[in-house]
Amino acid sequence: MGIRYIDLGTPVRKSEREVTLEIDGMQVTVPEGTSVMRAAAEAGVSIPKLCATDSLEPFGSCRLCLVEIEGRRGYPASCTTPVAPGMVVHTQTATLAKVRRNVMELYISDHPLDCLTCAANGNCELQDMAGVVGLREVRYGYDGANHLEATKDTSNPYFTFDPAKCIVCSRCVRACEETQGTFALTIDSRGFASMVSPGQKEDFMDSECVSCGACVQACPTATLMEKSVIDKGQAEHSLVTTCAYCGVGCSFRAEMQGNDVVRMVPNKDGHANHGHSCVKGRFAIGYATHKDRITKPMIRASIDEPWREVSWEEAVGHAAAEFKRIQAKYGRGAVGGITSSRCTNEETYLVQKLIRAAFGNNNVDTCARVCHSPTGYGLKTTLGESAGTQTFDSVEKADVIVVIGANPTDGHPVFGSRMKRRLREGAHLIVVDPRTIDLVRSPHIQATHHLKLRPGTNVAVVNAMAHVIVTEGLWNQAFVNSRCEEPAFARWVDFIVDAANSPETLEAETGVPAKELREAARLYATGGNGAIYYGLGVTEHSQGSTMVMGIANLAMLTGNIGREGVGVNPVRGQNNVQGACDMGSFPHELPGYRHVSDAPTRQLFESAWGVKLEPEPGLRIPNMLDAALDGSFRGIYIEGEDIAQSDPDTQHVTAALRAMECVVVQDIFLNETAKFAHVFLPGSSFLEKDGTFTNAERRISPVRKVMPPLAGKSDWEVTQMLSNALGYPMHYHHPSEIMDEIARLTPTFHGVSYEKLDRLGSIQWPCNEHSPEGTPTMHVDEFVRGKGRFVITRYVPTEERTSRQYPLILTTGRILSQYNVGAQTRRTANVAWHDEDRLEIHPSDAELRGIREGDWVGVRSRAGETVLRAVITERVQPGVVYTTFHFPESGANVITTDNSDWATNCPEFKVTAVQVEPVTQPSEWQKRFRQFSEEQLSLLAHG
Ligand code: SF4
Ligand code: SF4
Ligand code: SF4
Ligand code: FES
Repeated sequence: MGIRYIDLGTPVRKSEREVTLEIDGMQVTVPEGTSVMRAAAEAGVSIPKLCATDSLEPFGSCRLCLVEIEGRRGYPASCTTPVAPGMVVHTQTATLAKVRRNVMELYISDHPLDCLTCAANGNCELQDMAGVVGLREVRYGYDGANHLEATKDTSNPYFTFDPAKCIVCSRCVRACEETQGTFALTIDSRGFASMVSPGQKEDFMDSECVSCGACVQACPTATLMEKSVIDKGQAEHSLVTTCAYCGVGCSFRAEMQGNDVVRMVPNKDGHANHGHSCVKGRFAIGYATHKDRITKPMIRASIDEPWREVSWEEAVGHAAAEFKRIQAKYGRGAVGGITSSRCTNEETYLVQKLIRAAFGNNNVDTCARVCHSPTGYGLKTTLGESAGTQTFDSVEKADVIVVIGANPTDGHPVFGSRMKRRLREGAHLIVVDPRTIDLVRSPHIQATHHLKLRPGTNVAVVNAMAHVIVTEGLWNQAFVNSRCEEPAFARWVDFIVDAANSPETLEAETGVPAKELREAARLYATGGNGAIYYGLGVTEHSQGSTMVMGIANLAMLTGNIGREGVGVNPVRGQNNVQGACDMGSFPHELPGYRHVSDAPTRQLFESAWGVKLEPEPGLRIPNMLDAALDGSFRGIYIEGEDIAQSDPDTQHVTAALRAMECVVVQDIFLNETAKFAHVFLPGSSFLEKDGTFTNAERRISPVRKVMPPLAGKSDWEVTQMLSNALGYPMHYHHPSEIMDEIARLTPTFHGVSYEKLDRLGSIQWPCNEHSPEGTPTMHVDEFVRGKGRFVITRYVPTEERTSRQYPLILTTGRILSQYNVGAQTRRTANVAWHDEDRLEIHPSDAELRGIREGDWVGVRSRAGETVLRAVITERVQPGVVYTTFHFPESGANVITTDNSDWATNCPEFKVTAVQVEPVTQPSEWQKRFRQFSEEQLSLLAHG
């Protein structure tokens, strides 16, 4: 009963040198540094243990794993004793058996004996060990009573803490420190009186705990236990799949009872996460079976009419007829579609194929338009490939970590923990961010430099850093000479050495003290392996693409590219935003980032798909919306996207949706966009389909159907049905056939197959004849484009300036417990941590306006106004306010403007000039929003 995982007791050690020893008469050879316990386990000899587990450094507290070693006195603990050449170890002797029984007696004397009704029954290491050591009696009685009366803490929505069952092995404490890096747990008191406790004897919910669950996973007893296991019992089978939240792409085992998920356990063999997770992936999956799921196709003639539940055939037939009618009346280009970064690669590929082949135009775009499209443009231009250069593991070899406009501990928590581990080992940290993110100062971590720039001045900062490196002669001449284009570099040097780019000149503009910027630049250039990680704080600007190129310039200039420990790494937001881009979701690119104007590429797809393809790029999302308002764009197919919440200038988006004649939304919920739809096609969650996701390190990972789709069809089946109804036949039987087609048509995917994914677990593209098992590090000997290209990155201040009317700059970001538009996490117990978006404001700005903590404040920009509650904090600097955007009624995008990146139209979400003042009621937009939402919900058949 319960699913057991192999645990070799102590972590793997990597060493060139091997050691041979004898264990119970067997010769065993292991890398130097391996523990006796692990060496024995690898040879098939299992030594009893309680405080050791192979995900944590050994601690040596339980004394159950004692062994005899010839020539050594006493009984050393095998978990803390490293192997030595010629060592002769005995793990099973009469004396050891007696000692181990004694140890177990002590544990059991202070442990409740309710095994039969305990949630861990059948999957408890204490119970197992009592059996293994042959415990038959407890001479000390069963009333140790040191912990038995302790009260249970049920404050966390997802797990309980029952100190009565604690054996004080400290695995939880170590997991919180080593794996998660939060340091939320301590062991109080000493000896028998010792107790584990969150913070200063607080409840879990009041402590620093971020609910990652690492302690729950590490606990060998039922002390820390998932509530879902307490409710449902132990699982009976498991399937490996990939988290559908962020771009880290953690691998999980979905532990199941039939079609019911009992719990999600991070997969120790997962290459992106190595057995760790965050609160979202491990616990926040309740949305998948939430009562708000819409599982019946629906249609209606206008958005003021009630929805009518219909058959799949009728819904799809109606959508197809409408699209054909619109095309006949307004022209082929009057319809288009949006692919989803939440859906699988295979599904995304099919949607863009449908648009290009069945609609016959290139009007396809994706939500990367509003997040990482500048990454695509900037990295392709400079390095030749639109993707991050490293594996996540690479951070373990970084000496200087530069985090620009990203908040890994909230946005990419598992990678954030890895980064923190490396920082605790001594790597330096440079944070470039207007806000004091957690990384700047957290337990045992202190950023060497925090360049607290003014929002919108990224390019000035990156230019100033490059200026320092060039003018102080700190650049890597050998690398640049051999790896980069000479004329472009010479032109760039002329530009960058100009005094206009010096930190001193730019200090007034950026707000970053020149001295500190100089020191940071020197550290990055000379501190060893320098690795840059960046997020939406880089891309969502009017100079987003310029900044990406500025980062690439910096990495090339210092030779920090092409090996482990360095690189340029966009930390991608959504689970499959990399994949959505790879799969040809942009209007100008076919799968594999090949331009639609490239005749040989087009011919390849034309012969495979049997249609003529348009050689001109189609419309981007903002163009589609503008065209809807001017009457030339009348129908859209949106899969798994919520542009009415996620895109800038909400009122413009909703007006455009209202103007269309046929809006088809395929989603799991009636999201904000679906409230403007005429056809609703129920989508499937990641638990209900097969496919693949590609994470921020280009890692293609399997997604596996663990339960049947609630609406009867996976998303790829729905797209296929729509394509057939449109008259363009698709006949796939399984997503593996779609991947085979992708592999045939895309050079970077030539070597990818489901068989290989099953064999290797995951694959980092490019995977082809040159690198059959994938490519962990890119641009090793040469750049994908041949020579690296320096691009001149002139700083152009954004047009969005503060004024007397709008004196503050609003910038936005995410919080750990919520995810993007919140459609999923808002429907989970994660709302216990964050149930509304709030406005962070500096104490001095708050005082000036008479704003107190928790007050309602109106936030007014040139685009619109909304009302949020204020949080007064020094995390933000004076002149800057900040909010998250997880709740639609917050209207964060009502106030963002339609300014955008010059190259890609990525919206300038991170810079909006606003005024903030106390108010007493919601904004006019919020009132209209509430009324409209209520009306729309009442139009549902069961509404
Ligand atoms: S859930 Fe995570 S953060 Fe909370 S105490 Fe456990 S390990 Fe620490
Ligand atoms: S809570 Fe679990 S992991 Fe932590 S000390 Fe107690 S038994 Fe060990
Ligand atoms: S870090 Fe990202 S991928 Fe990993 S569990 Fe959390 S949300 Fe999922
Ligand atoms: S397992 Fe070795 S001392 Fe606990």
